Amino acid sequence: MVVDAGLAPAHIELRAVSKHFGGVRALDSVSLSVRAGSVHAVVGENGAGKSTLGKIVGGVIAPDEGEVALNGAVVRWRGPHEALNHGVATIAQELAIVPELTAAQNVFLGAEPRRGVLLRRRELLRRYTSLCGRVGFGVPADTLAGELRVADQQKLEILRALARDAQFFVFDEPTAALGRDDIEKLHQVISRLRSQGRTVLLISHFLREVLEVANDVTVLRDGRLVRCGPAATETEGSLVQAMLGRSFEQPFPPKRRPPAGSPALLEIHDLWAAGVKGASLKVHAGEIVGLAGLVGAGRTELAQALVGARPAQRGRVVLAGKPFERRTPRRMLAAGLAMVPESRKEQGLFLGRPVGENAALSVLKELSRLGYVKRRTERRTVHEALQHVGVRSADMVEAGTLSGGNQQKLLFARVLLTKPLVLVADEPTRGVDVGARRAIYDLLAGFAADGRGVLIISSDAEEVLGISHRILVMRAGQVVAELDGETATEEDLVSASLLERRAS
Ligand SMILES: Nc1ncnc2c1ncn2[C@@H]1O[C@H](COP(=O)(O)OP(=O)(O)O)[C@@H](O)[C@H]1O
Ligand SMILES: [Mg+2]
Repeated sequence: MVVDAGLAPAHIELRAVSKHFGGVRALDSVSLSVRAGSVHAVVGENGAGKSTLGKIVGGVIAPDEGEVALNGAVVRWRGPHEALNHGVATIAQELAIVPELTAAQNVFLGAEPRRGVLLRRRELLRRYTSLCGRVGFGVPADTLAGELRVADQQKLEILRALARDAQFFVFDEPTAALGRDDIEKLHQVISRLRSQGRTVLLISHFLREVLEVANDVTVLRDGRLVRCGPAATETEGSLVQAMLGRSFEQPFPPKRRPPAGSPALLEIHDLWAAGVKGASLKVHAGEIVGLAGLVGAGRTELAQALVGARPAQRGRVVLAGKPFERRTPRRMLAAGLAMVPESRKEQGLFLGRPVGENAALSVLKELSRLGYVKRRTERRTVHEALQHVGVRSADMVEAGTLSGGNQQKLLFARVLLTKPLVLVADEPTRGVDVGARRAIYDLLAGFAADGRGVLIISSDAEEVLGISHRILVMRAGQVVAELDGETATEEDLVSASLLERRAS
């Protein structure tokens, strides 16, 4: 139970490792050496095989072919626990924190100092404080883990691994759920692990950050290693090019302005709800409207009140000329107003169920009316929808095995199957890699070019400016400014989000 910086640093090699899932070749003869005491980043599009590689290194799954060597000796671990016994820890996206225990209790879970059945609180605290002191980071010992922010819960997982003497860390997209500040803090922790001689395999899609923190970078594409070398010789552009296998021209599709005089498909007049204080806006046929503003400005709340996922006290919602007073998400979906919510995990997908079933969820009733042809029709319809959004994996695999970007595309497939008139997308590219991002923009642009309307909520200024025909800025529950998507700059957007409206 000690952190001993004197332990031999860990060096891991993959030798011609392959892994298949059914017909999918997730890894294809990948050979790779992670130098002891380095941070080695792995990047690639969604589905490239990054998590599979991380799981093989962390002993979570075994390769079909090839071998893994730790400090030169071939290892065959029968699970992450065995890997951890050899000093290899995995920090996955789903954290294994017990929310009702304190920070210190979580770190020493299963190895608490006891006298008989009694927990020795003071000893626990002493060990915890000493551990934090030696590694140079921590969180208050007595805080309940469930009350910590994700970034601090991650620290607990790292501390727990350090308490078990981990020398090699696998991080699988640890930043997907973090804000900018927390990403920076996590990278400080990673740098600190390295400065203590530990080795880190970092799977991430934040290329800029990866280039700052990593010594080496590996690029995977379709299960193959296409590039591996020092981070210092790479740029964001060179990595993207290697990831996609082609040069990366434009992050956004060209904007096609809606024809002048297009009718309003969606109108919101003076809407009031918790967090929304008299908001009004319109979305026209063929238009992508960006909804910008700071976190807490009321954008998600507005979207929820709009589709009936949050009670509204007052206000009018008109869809295709028809007012809707008593709104529920189901009723609005049937009327042609669909929402892709912000949090895929909490609000959208059944991760344990097949992809096809998840996609079909919104149209099951309609399809079942078709009687005995139902199953075949369902399969074909769903398959087409998945193809349309570019989800490549089989319809039968569990949604939870899809990468973040593919899960997001799956949610789009589901709502597009309902053939909506207006699509509301809340942070549709959060936690999504570059390739899938462009695919989602193409979907939105195509949807609008079809004469339908899009309302996109986004905290990414570049994205709002890049995709929207018109941008509305919210502050304190109201729409306070309107910007032209062609001419507005990032400064315009920031000042409209931050500054009080001046009387002109
Ligand atoms: N448990 C699984 N069952 C079936 N297919 C899987 C499983 N895990 C991964 N895959 C498939 O293997 C490929 C690589 O996936 P993954 O390693 O998760 O990629 P990444 O992490 O780069 O997004 C994808 O096509 C994915 O759908
Ligand atoms: Mg992954």
